[in-house]
Amino acid sequence: MSGAVPLFRRCFGTDPQVGWRAPGRVNLIGEHTDYNDGYVLPIALSLGVTVALARNGSDRLRLVSAQHGQDVATVALDALEPGALSDWTAYPAGVVWQLRRSGLDVGRHGGGLDIAVDGDLPGGAGLSSSAALECAAAMALDELLHLGLTRPQVAAHARAAEHDFVGMPCGVMDQYASLLCTQGHALFLDTRTMTTEQVPLDFAAAGLHLQLIDTRAPHRLVEGHYAERRRSCAEAAAALGVPALRDIDRAALGGALARLSDATARRRTRHVVTENIRVLETVRLLRDGRPDRIGPLLTASHASLRDDYEVSCPELDLAVDAALGAGALGARMTGGGFGGSVIALSVAEDADAIAAAVCEAFAEHGFAAPIRLDAHPAAGAARITVPPRR
Ligand code: GLA
Repeated sequence: MSGAVPLFRRCFGTDPQVGWRAPGRVNLIGEHTDYNDGYVLPIALSLGVTVALARNGSDRLRLVSAQHGQDVATVALDALEPGALSDWTAYPAGVVWQLRRSGLDVGRHGGGLDIAVDGDLPGGAGLSSSAALECAAAMALDELLHLGLTRPQVAAHARAAEHDFVGMPCGVMDQYASLLCTQGHALFLDTRTMTTEQVPLDFAAAGLHLQLIDTRAPHRLVEGHYAERRRSCAEAAAALGVPALRDIDRAALGGALARLSDATARRRTRHVVTENIRVLETVRLLRDGRPDRIGPLLTASHASLRDDYEVSCPELDLAVDAALGAGALGARMTGGGFGGSVIALSVAEDADAIAAAVCEAFAEHGFAAPIRLDAHPAAGAARITVPPRR
């Protein structure tokens, strides 16, 4: 039983009516492409966030999290407005705000809500803990209030909550991964058409291992940098006369770069265009049953994010270099960057030596010890049963 249910009972003295768990994600490849109408290829993690909730009959939200001190925060429904909350409560409260503003009458049908949160997904590790929390809350509300939303609709609401209530101008990859990934598959998403394909992914069957390394490097000014990258991509697309950088393909890249006068815009454009190409090549190799060949694409993605998109940091670069030095077939930062996690693909026998090499390199550089996590493609959000109290 999830810790969210006993936490709920302890803090609110009643049983929750519904519970949902939503996973974090790692992106195999396709970074900073989802706000350029491009392609992404995430997998869901087995680690996630659980939300238990119930109507409370008042006009308030009461929220508690096992990871945030276990004190109950209270927010009046009428006080919900963008920027009003600056801590973890902004994510579930933002979902309530978003559903209300889109005309789904959360107030009339549900009134106030009690919400308890627990999870095993580390926050701040670039593994989408915020999207997991939004998605678990949104699925729980969908069930509680009989909203009848599809998962893509839930993803759109969760993203709108983060975008418009929290103020992080993210793309839609994280919410899609948390809701639409399936076990044993990577989710190939075209963020223009919003079409998806479940691409079978079984590294173990191919004698391979994908490890995830949380560098524990603190995110540095992530949101400002993220918004700035987003803006420069939109400006580059406008200068090139295309709706989005997705519209520049391999053949058009050279001409496009020659038309951009600004060197930074050229680098940003080159990253997005080449990253989209790398996603398509990765998907092609996986469809052909050749996961052993994707390593160089992962490593090229990292170099592009480091040199052209400039969203890496010393800890991420060191983890990638140490993993490659110890025999990884490919390695890259995953997620938004400026800290967070790295993935490294290797033959299964080399995985432990790679993890040890990364730890050793971090110790030599005086960085905090990194944490190795599980990265098997897991399922998207799922309902949890709330057992009757004994
Ligand atoms: C963050 C955002 C995603 C995506 C990645 C970079 O995780 O939430 O939408 O843009 O960064 O690929």
